[in-house]
Amino acid sequence: MGGDTLNEDKRIDMTRAILVTGGAGYVGSHTVAYLLENMGNDLEIVVVDNLINSYRKPGQKKPESLRIIEDMTGKTIHFYNCDIRDVQAMHRVFQNHLIECVIHFAALKAVGESVTKPLEYYQANVSGTCTLFEVMRDHGVHKLVYSSSCTVYGEPQRLPLDETHPTGAGLTNPYGRSKYFCEEIMKDLCASDKKWSVISLRYFNPVGAHPSGRIGEDPRGTPNNLMPYIAQVAVGRLEELQVFGSDYPTVDGTGVRDYVHVQDLAEGHAGALACFNKTEFTGFHAINLGTGTGYSVLQMVAAFEAASGKRVPWRVAARRAGDVAVNYADASLAARTLGWRARRTLADMCADTWRWQSTHPHGYAT
Ligand SMILES: NC(=O)c1ccc[n+]([C@@H]2O[C@H](COP(=O)([O-])OP(=O)(O)OC[C@H]3O[C@@H](n4cnc5c(N)ncnc54)[C@H](O)[C@@H]3O)[C@@H](O)[C@H]2O)c1
Repeated sequence: MGGDTLNEDKRIDMTRAILVTGGAGYVGSHTVAYLLENMGNDLEIVVVDNLINSYRKPGQKKPESLRIIEDMTGKTIHFYNCDIRDVQAMHRVFQNHLIECVIHFAALKAVGESVTKPLEYYQANVSGTCTLFEVMRDHGVHKLVYSSSCTVYGEPQRLPLDETHPTGAGLTNPYGRSKYFCEEIMKDLCASDKKWSVISLRYFNPVGAHPSGRIGEDPRGTPNNLMPYIAQVAVGRLEELQVFGSDYPTVDGTGVRDYVHVQDLAEGHAGALACFNKTEFTGFHAINLGTGTGYSVLQMVAAFEAASGKRVPWRVAARRAGDVAVNYADASLAARTLGWRARRTLADMCADTWRWQSTHPHGYAT
């Protein structure tokens, strides 16, 4: 096990701590950076990550994303290279730190892979979440922010998607179902014991990078999502973009999605943490994090070309099974409850992605 040495006998110190599972990954690392940049020294950040989808340089103890954040902020991140399903190791993390609440990012997230490896996805995402809750309960920690997804809504019955839209119907893959199942488990848990407070943040499509360009999205293999794919074409790593379907009933026939800057998401998590101090925030709350505006694939390509000054060649391919034509959020609940609004524009999303990608053509291993 790399990173901090686990202390079996007593806690390392008694500073209040936030546990961030999956904190070395894309959304997690940006949230960790945001919290360290914006919170006082009376709170520490503890990250648990098994590095299955994040990068550590040979010879380093900490993953590259966290090492860079420490360099950027001058603050220490307590890092444990462990799996959230490793009960003993998780108990030791809770013994070593005075954890007040958890932000739970750790999950497998490749939709296509989840179809071929359903057991791995349910094991990591659903069993892993149950194990985390058991360990939290054993240590008297009952506050959790969960990384959910607009995927839980399935095919939209109406737009924009607000939180009262039904969930769970027509989900087409184990990844989406694992997010839905976790939400259902969290509802049951919160109903069983009033001590629990769970805020499930339903992300729309996270894109962008830290404005410094020092941390960003670093997918392994061929990217599953549009923005990193476009960025890798622009930087010359991939030849051309495949546009899946050009005959949808949209502005130009290509699929429309609600893209949200990862820095805005990070602010949303900080907003959720702040809610834990309010009594009305016990129980289960699902909240959308999106902009409320959708852009088509070709609008994304045009915006990225404008931001990067690079051409992004594309060609039309067949529609993908399970893809919907249009999806965008009603983000008004986040504004009312978290005081959160996405502030960054599409141009910001593209410019920040390009700053990261152009300086890290091969991600953290560059
Ligand atoms: N990025 C998106 O498009 C998107 C959209 C909606 C929801 N989400 C959710 O947000 C969360 C974070 O997504 P991301 O894009 O940052 O993904 P990511 O893969 O970049 O980050 C996840 C991190 O969790 C770690 N991890 C995975 N399984 C683990 C386990 N069993 N134990 C410990 N660590 C483990 C990985 O190594 C990785 O560092 C996920 O739960 C994902 O389902 C992501």
